[in-house]
Amino acid sequence: MTTILAIESSCDETSAAIVRNGRELLSNIVASQVPSHQRFGGVVPEVASRHHIACINPVIAMALEEANLHLEDIDAVAVTAGPGLVGALLIGVSAAKAIAYSQGIPLIAVNHMAGHIYANHLETPLEFPLMALVVSGGHTELVRMTDHVTFEVIGETRDDAVGEAYDKIGRVLGLPYPAGKAMDQLAHQGEDKYAFPRAMMEEDNYDFSFSGLKSAVINTLHHADQLGEEIIKEDVATSFQAAVVDILATKTLRALKEYPSKQLILAGGVAANRGLRERLEKELKGSVQFLRPPMKLCGDNAAMIAACAYYQYLKGDFADSRLNAFPGWAIDQALPSIH
Ligand code: KG4
Ligand code: ZN
Repeated sequence: MTTILAIESSCDETSAAIVRNGRELLSNIVASQVPSHQRFGGVVPEVASRHHIACINPVIAMALEEANLHLEDIDAVAVTAGPGLVGALLIGVSAAKAIAYSQGIPLIAVNHMAGHIYANHLETPLEFPLMALVVSGGHTELVRMTDHVTFEVIGETRDDAVGEAYDKIGRVLGLPYPAGKAMDQLAHQGEDKYAFPRAMMEEDNYDFSFSGLKSAVINTLHHADQLGEEIIKEDVATSFQAAVVDILATKTLRALKEYPSKQLILAGGVAANRGLRERLEKELKGSVQFLRPPMKLCGDNAAMIAACAYYQYLKGDFADSRLNAFPGWAIDQALPSIH
């Protein structure tokens, strides 16, 4: 029996969780800072770091308390080492190092995007080979896995991430940060009236591009504003989401044809998107097992980090007290060297 305490502080949530044997969730505490960033319309790195400092110890204490455990009962401590905001990551990394050192237990450095994929594993065991569509505020990528913690990126965004496009358009529409969820709701209330562009659809690769789509939507809004025309927000959201879902579904289905997979996995904050879930479900028609994380595990949380860390633990993939934060750590890269 292996009990792992994990810490996540890569962006605007401070989280600690305890998971046994990679799947048994004993506790998962998430302290969100969203209200502090809303008035700025996005995450302010310095504000995020200060919040993490204030929250990290109480959040870890709460995770232990909820699991009814003490630090002495923990076999290893895991932490998100990247990608993310460097100042935010460093707080989790420092806390994890202190616990590993004081308890004499292994330290495990987990990639945040790998964690998002493993959020699914807490609900249904991963089966290989699998294809994961990872969509978050900072990333959009198609990732193939042939075994635990073995990742191959077969396609990724060349510019904006999907979540980023949702948040920026939402901001122009006057929605509070982060706007993804509210945009998704609006998209279910309007009509698909605008023919927004779908970039790179015909190209023979699995890469994405969302900046042209984002600009087209924002230009439409500014143009209408200049002419004094009234815009129906719901219609804009519906047409934008139709384009996003078209792009993501087309590339994902094509990837599944080239790479036969036992499962298709949706991961990251945008995995909560209802339009995307519905479209993939419809198009897959049961051809592969379709996993999407439970809503509460779509956003950033430490439970997903603990789930992934268990398989690194089994492989003896440990970090040491020199561990640093790696803001640009790609999922298919080994932990960058610190020497
Ligand atoms: O994974 P996540 O919590 O943080 C990152 O690692 O980036 O993803 C946050 C992103 C935000 O951009 C947010 O607007 C988006 O996920 N999001 C959604 C939905 N819920 C959250 N985007 C579209 N539809 C949603 N229902
Ligand atoms: Zn995330």
